[in-house]
Amino acid sequence: MKHFISVHDAGNIDALAQKALAYKANPFYDKTLGANKRIGCLFLNPSMRTRLSTQVAAQNLGMEAIIFNVGSEGWALEFEEEAIMSGTTVEHVKDAAPVFGNYFDILAIRTFPSLKNREDDYSELYIKQFIKYAGIPVVSLESATLHPLQSLTDIITITEEMQKTGIERPRIVLSWAPHVKPLPQCVANSFSQWINAWGKADFVITHPEDYELSEEFTKGATITHNQDEALKNADFVYVKNWSTFRDYGKIYESDPKWMLTNQKLQLTNNAKVMHCLPVRRNVELSDEILDGPNSIITREAANRVWAAQAVLAEILKTNG
Ligand code: CP
Repeated sequence: MKHFISVHDAGNIDALAQKALAYKANPFYDKTLGANKRIGCLFLNPSMRTRLSTQVAAQNLGMEAIIFNVGSEGWALEFEEEAIMSGTTVEHVKDAAPVFGNYFDILAIRTFPSLKNREDDYSELYIKQFIKYAGIPVVSLESATLHPLQSLTDIITITEEMQKTGIERPRIVLSWAPHVKPLPQCVANSFSQWINAWGKADFVITHPEDYELSEEFTKGATITHNQDEALKNADFVYVKNWSTFRDYGKIYESDPKWMLTNQKLQLTNNAKVMHCLPVRRNVELSDEILDGPNSIITREAANRVWAAQAVLAEILKTNG
């Protein structure tokens, strides 16, 4: 594995998930793999789980993790080629990235979309420029359109649950949830991309009209605007808000009827409920679900460590 930006870098998804579960069983198995290596984690946007789980994963591999909140503490970066930098940006990524490439062995980056211009966001310019100029492996800690470490975690968590219950081909439902502000499509795009590529589930996406995601990621899933229909016999319900894709970055409605409740859960096959966190309680998901027996959300967040550890180990092994 050279970089980790999307499912296309994952190779065999099941093998990567099993590697992560092996680390969960034995966190320090490869405790010297990353000895004398450094990962630089650059945050252009806030994070809790991604930041801490990546640090813990690196340390479990004997690696040093250095965090830089570049968005709030660093020079404002320019990403456009041939930019005339007479505005607010202070340093070009062309100059900054090679410096990071000298300080670190792996570079990990979190950057959000602007939600203003779809073409710009979906071009993934920021992460592509770091790959172009850093000269070292780059890991996405969530980009403008995808969140691959979250999606690998989600497959690890589903795999764990399948092993426990003996379910062989689960029905997995990605269900849109209300929110108070427009959020990126990253988690929903990425979850769709990974579940489709994995191919081990009957995958259904449900959302209100006008909340279609890009077909690039959803192709292969059943898509319905009827949430009750979607929830029938579901084994897993993945709850997430996202803003509109076509008329980009908008909220048209926040209909509370789309929030998952225990009553709706009755339609499912006693489904386990997932969410990437952070979650707006009683807007996106009800207290009764979050605090109830069907939620596997805390375990899902805990599994972020093992996903990050498996990915960092693969990169260390490939790149020496
Ligand atoms: N799920 C997730 O990425 O959480 P953070 O934003 O806290 O990293």
